[in-house]
Amino acid sequence: MKTLVIGANGQIGRMFCSKAHNAGFQLRAMVRETAQAAQFQEQGIETVVADLEGDFQEALHGCDQIVFTAGAGAKGGPDKTLLVDLYGAIRTVDFAKAQGLRRMIMVSAMRSMVPQIAPDFLRPYAAAKFAADHYLKTSGLPYLILLPARLVDEPASGRIRTVRDDSLPITVSRENVAECLVSALRYDSLCNQQTILLDGDEDIDEIFARLSAAALGEA
Ligand SMILES: NC(=O)c1ccc[n+]([C@@H]2O[C@H](COP(=O)([O-])OP(=O)(O)OC[C@H]3O[C@@H](n4cnc5c(N)ncnc54)[C@H](OP(=O)(O)O)[C@@H]3O)[C@@H](O)[C@H]2O)c1
Repeated sequence: MKTLVIGANGQIGRMFCSKAHNAGFQLRAMVRETAQAAQFQEQGIETVVADLEGDFQEALHGCDQIVFTAGAGAKGGPDKTLLVDLYGAIRTVDFAKAQGLRRMIMVSAMRSMVPQIAPDFLRPYAAAKFAADHYLKTSGLPYLILLPARLVDEPASGRIRTVRDDSLPITVSRENVAECLVSALRYDSLCNQQTILLDGDEDIDEIFARLSAAALGEA
């Protein structure tokens, strides 16, 4: 089972690739520039150089599933958000379906659930993520959508919660999100589910085992 990681050079992407590779999962890290490939190749991780704004369908060849953790970030403004977070995600879904991939794991954002209540400057981003998630959910391609709260750079605690409680901090460690992605790889039958991710006190693997059981109708 080979996983194409789109956004591999990002903060979550790099942590996820190292953790997943060390856990024995077969990966192909998609990066935008040749110079970004070395850090993965040194670890023994296969790489491909491709851009979501270009023709990247060959990057999927021979892969079974996708982890999509790419995003334009704030620098390019709403235009880049549309091209990368929305249109890049839509094209990924289309290529994955056309090539018969088994699952797409999307790193979306908790904000995408209700874009209209996002602060003004985040509304285009939240709407783009909402539309990308909607496209994936209605595409017929098996999916898992992770909806992290505001990302912070704390080390992983290995513990999260999946229920929002506004009396608690609305944040999640990037490293915890990377660990959630690794846990998701362990449950390849975990499909057609979405979950928010907040730092919390429940073991990540236990949560993903429960989500997987729910997906299989065992819960
Ligand atoms: N910030 C938050 O509070 C928050 C909350 C919830 C969810 N999220 C989402 O979580 C995801 C990952 O977060 P992060 O902190 O790891 O982000 P990050 O460090 O900014 O990583 C984003 C990655 O996307 C890649 N990328 C951008 N444009 C691309 C393109 N045209 N083609 C291919 N790859 C492209 C970047 O490539 P380069 O390395 O080449 O630049 C980078 O590797 C993002 O999608 C973000 O929207 C963020």
